[in-house]
Amino acid sequence: MKKITIAIDGFSSTGKSTLAKQLAQKLQYVYVDSGAMYRAVALYALQHKLIQNSVLNTEELINNLPLIKVAFQYNASLKASEIYLNEVNVNTEIRTMEVSNTVSIVASVPEVRQQLVALQQHMGAKKGIVMDGRDIGTVVFPDAELKLFMTASADTRAQRRYDELVAGGTTVSFDAVLENITSRDHLDSTREDSPLFKSEGAIEIDNSKLSLDHQFEKVLALVNSKIDFKNP
Ligand code: CDP
Repeated sequence: MKKITIAIDGFSSTGKSTLAKQLAQKLQYVYVDSGAMYRAVALYALQHKLIQNSVLNTEELINNLPLIKVAFQYNASLKASEIYLNEVNVNTEIRTMEVSNTVSIVASVPEVRQQLVALQQHMGAKKGIVMDGRDIGTVVFPDAELKLFMTASADTRAQRRYDELVAGGTTVSFDAVLENITSRDHLDSTREDSPLFKSEGAIEIDNSKLSLDHQFEKVLALVNSKIDFKNP
């Protein structure tokens, strides 16, 4: 069957990764969480004290880029890929609030983006991929056959992320999560290099009031309309 590229962009905590994983599993495609890659670079910057009190030493980070190796490895028991930073599994560490609070600063550096975008394009060279992020339909795969742009109200998104963090054992206030989400929305959509916006041809999905099953059905119908079953 013909394989396509599916690009999912949108604001923080809009359920992009949940949908992307569902699609990848159903279609037997590769799933790539591009945000995890930016988070891994932000973690490196934190570990090496290149970012302190939200001030990034941009020059030093750029000098360090050749030393930053980000890769995914499949974990058969989890049936999912996990992210590695210089051969160390950092799948859990990249989800802390500390990383969430610094990642958008790191992701605004053009040199960081160049390095990660090249890697992402390499991963998707053979199609059969679902990638989620902020610039997938606009920069990484502008020719993707299916582009989705996901939105939901800030309160809905903050509640989802808050529930996720609390379920994972993190102590955090709802207000801190809401503040992180709205400040990242702002930074991500106003940065100069590859800002987040709905690309031409992207289909917007507001899932504030959409159940996961209903959303999946809707998107699967869109995928099917792109894959020509009669002429694979
Ligand atoms: O999961 P969540 O929506 O909170 O964010 P994420 O997908 O893990 O992405 C974390 C951050 O990485 C975003 O807020 C962006 O600053 C950056 N990012 C980006 O700039 N470009 C991408 N393609 C993906 C993420």
